[in-house]
Amino acid sequence: MADLRTTFMGVELKNPIILGASSLVEDLNAIKKIERAGVAAIVYRSLFEEQINLEQIQLDDQVGEYSYRNAEMGNIFPEIKHAGAGEHLYNLTKLIKSVNIPVFASLNAIYDQSWQDYAVQLGKTGIAGLELNFYDVPTDASNDSSKIESHQISILKKLKKLVKIPISIKLSPFYANPLNFIAQVDKAGAEGVVIFNRFFQPEINIENEEFYFPFDLTHEKDYQITLRFAGLLFGNINADICASRGISDGTDVIKMVLAGASSVQVVSTVYKNKAAHITQMIETLEEWMDAKGYKTINDFKGKLSMNKSKEPYAYRRAHYVDILMKSTEIFKKYPMV
Ligand SMILES: Cc1cc2nc3c(=O)[nH]c(=O)nc-3n(C[C@H](O)[C@H](O)[C@H](O)COP(=O)(O)O)c2cc1C
Repeated sequence: MADLRTTFMGVELKNPIILGASSLVEDLNAIKKIERAGVAAIVYRSLFEEQINLEQIQLDDQVGEYSYRNAEMGNIFPEIKHAGAGEHLYNLTKLIKSVNIPVFASLNAIYDQSWQDYAVQLGKTGIAGLELNFYDVPTDASNDSSKIESHQISILKKLKKLVKIPISIKLSPFYANPLNFIAQVDKAGAEGVVIFNRFFQPEINIENEEFYFPFDLTHEKDYQITLRFAGLLFGNINADICASRGISDGTDVIKMVLAGASSVQVVSTVYKNKAAHITQMIETLEEWMDAKGYKTINDFKGKLSMNKSKEPYAYRRAHYVDILMKSTEIFKKYPMV
């Protein structure tokens, strides 16, 4: 039987499949099922500073309105304060105690001081490591990319000094050169990189001419950009590569490891196909490894990376041009008449 052990942020996992950050962690019964199905680790949903600030404002509004209407009550309880990250930390600790697999935390803060304060608080919960969710949506054209990147790297460096647990960076593909940014992350000492995050985007309803925010899950094959970058990174960084986005079954896991990933994170496929799907993914991986005679994950990890592949041109621009040159073939598949 194949040995599926691998690492994420240097932490040993029994197999490469991690439940990515999501609201699934809010349901302990679901988490128990997912653990029984064989998942190797869990990333707890992100602690968003923005959300805590928003809740504080809502609470201030509610207390303010109540005080206005009930002046004497407002005087009795003048200091009602939001619990801050307290509830998040409490639920995270509860989850860590209820499972027997590593649990990782995820953080997205706004201010430098908050990144540090929350990282320290999360580090005390018993997490196996901390994922920094570098989610940022620039809306100001004057904010240049090198400033954004150097600020993110400075946060990582500060946190590396501050907390003793391993750290990974979960990033979007929207950097001018993600390879350069990841090389900086690697140099700053991150033990892992999660490629890539996926953002929910607003949609427009043309009837009422308003925005709405659909809760879309990813689709099969949304993993292609991840596959490419896993292959470009393997052998060039020390950090563990964790693949995320559109990974839907065991064959996708095999592809990611062949490209160079040590582990994968899954969310949408667990929502769609339920916990037992994880068992199937593990079985597919095991059966494939046995059939191929691979005894460990390292036996085939990165075999098709740019550094190791017999066809490194698959990663190069020339190949992209090659595909476009052949694109007339598409007419045969989708004729206009
Ligand atoms: C309901 C839901 C909640 C999510 N919450 C978080 C979160 O708190 N932090 C985070 O970094 N990513 C979050 N994500 C993104 C996922 O972790 C993951 O990166 C993304 O869904 C792509 O992976 P997938 O194709 O396996 O779904 C969430 C996704 C979903 C669907």
